[in-house]
Amino acid sequence: MQKLLAFGLGLVFVAGACWAAESKAAEGTDTQWWKNAVIYEIYPRSFADSNGDGIGDLNGITQHLDYLQELGVNAIWLTPFYPSPQVDFGYDISDYRAIDPQYGSMADFDRLVAEAKKRNIRILNDLVLNHTSDKHPWFIESKSSRTNPKANWYVWHDGKPGGQPPNNWLSLFGHSAWQFDPARNQYYYHKFYVQQPDLNWRDPQMKNAMWDVVRFWMDKGVAGFRLDAITSMFEDAQFRDEKILPGKNAFGDPIVAHEYTDNLPEENVVLQELRQVTDKYPGSVLIGEAYVQTSSDLLRLYGTAGKPELQLPMDAQFGFVNHLSADKFRAKLVAAETELGGNSPLFVFDNHDNNRSWNRYGDGVHNEEIAKLVATLLLTPRAAALMYYGEELGMKENTPTRKEDVKDPIGIRGWPKEKGRDGERTPMQWNGDTDAGFSTARKTWLPIGPDYRTRNVSAESRRPDSLLNYYKALIKLRKDSAALRDGEFAIVNANDKNVLSFLHKAKDGQTVLVAVNCSPAIHTVAYDLAAQGVKGSTGKTLLSSFSKAGQVKGLSKFTLPPYGSYVGEVQ
Ligand code: GLC
Repeated sequence: MQKLLAFGLGLVFVAGACWAAESKAAEGTDTQWWKNAVIYEIYPRSFADSNGDGIGDLNGITQHLDYLQELGVNAIWLTPFYPSPQVDFGYDISDYRAIDPQYGSMADFDRLVAEAKKRNIRILNDLVLNHTSDKHPWFIESKSSRTNPKANWYVWHDGKPGGQPPNNWLSLFGHSAWQFDPARNQYYYHKFYVQQPDLNWRDPQMKNAMWDVVRFWMDKGVAGFRLDAITSMFEDAQFRDEKILPGKNAFGDPIVAHEYTDNLPEENVVLQELRQVTDKYPGSVLIGEAYVQTSSDLLRLYGTAGKPELQLPMDAQFGFVNHLSADKFRAKLVAAETELGGNSPLFVFDNHDNNRSWNRYGDGVHNEEIAKLVATLLLTPRAAALMYYGEELGMKENTPTRKEDVKDPIGIRGWPKEKGRDGERTPMQWNGDTDAGFSTARKTWLPIGPDYRTRNVSAESRRPDSLLNYYKALIKLRKDSAALRDGEFAIVNANDKNVLSFLHKAKDGQTVLVAVNCSPAIHTVAYDLAAQGVKGSTGKTLLSSFSKAGQVKGLSKFTLPPYGSYVGEVQ
């Protein structure tokens, strides 16, 4: 029996099973659409190029909304499309209230929002709170003197005697996080690139200016934001040196503990304020980028009953286990069910900053089955799910092989140990034609993945057993099955090292069993569901990676092929 301790979720023990009660998600109304939503991340530069310049754009996205509707997504998160010098491909914003001409115009954006709405798809913008571009007028003013009205809008500090930076803080993108500015004769702090000065969140005027930006986009009809780099919004007010740990990173810098530059408690207060701003817009959602390693740090980002913060801070633990281990996935799943205070988790395997899951989990032999397993893990727990364009096709990592081809400055600086993030950002593979149907340009901004002739939307739509059709079926199943969406949850066969199995039980009595074989061998499992308080000993297949829907399986002796995934209704 799985020994779950009740962490305030009201776990119910039924004849040997331990059920986590129907989640708060079950109470979801339309304003809480996000609780078990499928949110699809689009990197606009790489999704679809409507004007043939080799770079994706907003009109390209609008042209493919029917595809996204058919896939079944509830919302799209767009990574930054604002005016930007593109040093960090949009995460260096020089104007928060406009569209970079290479992605289109404000009229194009409005049309995208309106067309998406017709298809019941919400738009979420990316909001970069930690820093702006060094070309943003706020920074230009801030650095002009020590006395200008925006002098305090960024993190400035005097150097140490002898022309040394104020302390040992390091940029996540390599080397010192301090840059000297001769006009002010001071240093400014940049957690990321030199061209991305950090905003000073202790300045109330700056904060209000940012809340105006939030209202500007909400008034335009976006449903909320994915908040970038929120765990690094604050730095120690005393500017103390960070602890140095053993070893060096890919940039050759010492490893530091980041105890004074990450996860400071002040960030929670600002997130509470932001939530008050967005709560004026019913149905809005705040998603947070948060690579925190413990459930308690993650829980903190949801806020408390009287002081809510984010609805969906990203859970970076489940999807980034990075090897197929039934035990590890089980433990993370149980943690998400029991240690997040009944809040909806947001699971994610892929995004624009990490190697694609195809490569992180694939073994080179069973990648297709493993990708279906990953899809099953993403879409069958009761959690919101964050997908990344091309994940549904099994797009691979396309890592540059020569330094001169690298576009991402991290890869240029860190080569060859750190090759940057170009590999997970290559253009969406729509079909087997020129540029994979992404563009008509002679050269696209990043090369097209070499497997595009077979791995693309058009080819996979035609193949009934493709990964794309598996995603579609899973998303549909999740919509149609109340049990799967937000029924009571229980782990079964908790000690099985190879097969992760869990049940969802709806109020109406439907019970759904999910089983994934995380090993390269065939495994036969036996479920004693009566001992779990569940009637029925056969499973009516709803979806599986290895058999046709509708087949019935005896659950007392049930065989899963290597990396096989199964979703069935217990009967
Ligand atoms: C976030 C973004 C990443 C960007 C960084 C700096 O981590 O996801 O792409 O480089 O913030 O803005």
